[in-house]
Amino acid sequence: MDEIIITNIKAREVLDSRGNPTIECDVKTDLAFESALVPSGASVGEKEAIELRDGGKRYHGKGVEKAVKNVNEKIAPLLIGENILDQKKIDSLMLKADNTENKSHLGANAILSVSLACARTAASSLRLPLYKYLNPNSSVIPIPLMNIINGGAHAGNSLEFQEFMIMPVNVETFKEALRVGSETYHELKIVLKEKYGKSAINVGDEGGFAPPMKDIEEPFEMIVKAEENLGYEKNLMFAIDAAPSYFYDKKTGKYTIGSKKYTNMELLEVYRELVSKYNILSIEDPFYEEDYEGFAAITKELNIQIVGDDIFVTDPELLKIGIKKGVCNALLLKINQIGTMTEAMEAAELAFRNKYNVVVSHRSGETEDTSIADISVALDAGQIKTGATCRGERVAKYNRLLKIEEENEHSIYAGKKFKYPT
Ligand code: PGA
Ligand code: ZN
Repeated sequence: MDEIIITNIKAREVLDSRGNPTIECDVKTDLAFESALVPSGASVGEKEAIELRDGGKRYHGKGVEKAVKNVNEKIAPLLIGENILDQKKIDSLMLKADNTENKSHLGANAILSVSLACARTAASSLRLPLYKYLNPNSSVIPIPLMNIINGGAHAGNSLEFQEFMIMPVNVETFKEALRVGSETYHELKIVLKEKYGKSAINVGDEGGFAPPMKDIEEPFEMIVKAEENLGYEKNLMFAIDAAPSYFYDKKTGKYTIGSKKYTNMELLEVYRELVSKYNILSIEDPFYEEDYEGFAAITKELNIQIVGDDIFVTDPELLKIGIKKGVCNALLLKINQIGTMTEAMEAAELAFRNKYNVVVSHRSGETEDTSIADISVALDAGQIKTGATCRGERVAKYNRLLKIEEENEHSIYAGKKFKYPT
């Protein structure tokens, strides 16, 4: 089938996992009807596409009625009658109508809700799951980067780094990886409660615990203890997202951790030390988004994955600059940072062509939408970051991956034969 016509588009205001308004969009053809929901960040990169919010008193200024109106009154008339199988044209028509650098006219949230809902309805119209529609040959089920201790902008504790994640490896399947991750999460809960008391097991925005820790090594120590209790030392690697806009001072150019202030090169030594002590495989945003010097140095000097989130904001143009400057060796892919499926896929392809890894990612404000699970499989990305094995909006993505693995007898779990560094 070459052409299936969009017959209706309708958006509404709903709530995300933090209880803030976001957009749900329905797209119809004569053959199918699917919806998509838009996530939202807390530690937002300065160059991200603009989420349109209403301001004023309603929902503390966070309403999205204007963006919903833009979908229903501006985008819908533009796209009804178009071919839903032509995602590039759908997205380019919206970009043209928006006609700004950062999607601030129609709103990146309005645009993404339609872009993603079109992809979902197109797949459904062809009776395909989303991942098969996007890539009929996809076969890799990603390693989950599970954020089990939360700090920074996502938690009410004093940890500077935002995310302490575990990556289950050397297991046969994603199903086993999820079990190892979940067991570790629950063992960590016991370990934390014993050491810090009951309040330590409250969870942050991404489902990880938010214990009252201060020292940057404490989370690693506690997770290692949980791993050892379970005998999973060879099955878990660490990943962190420092997200330093939270502890970086633009005026002085220094990073504050605990009571100490660090230059970028001094902070690099902190990372070097952590990497030498713990099995850290991946560091996301080790430096502030404009600290290209820090990013280039760590990429060159530490032989691990360096992931660019706020520095690239899923923008192919910023990724091109980064590639030229030798910063990072992986891209964090968040579709709402850029706002359309076409541009997000372009960013991923550009990354792969330049031998960068791709980590598909949720936002800290999420919804029940599971599209990123399908997107991670479609891209054969091999890695997905979607929170702890806790909170419905996080677990929904992991549950979706279980189903995709079950549907594909010949799929391969990306962490199956992981060479453990000695
Ligand atoms: P955010 O956090 O969704 O709040 O931006 C996630 C991240 O920094 O990776
Ligand atoms: Zn990040």
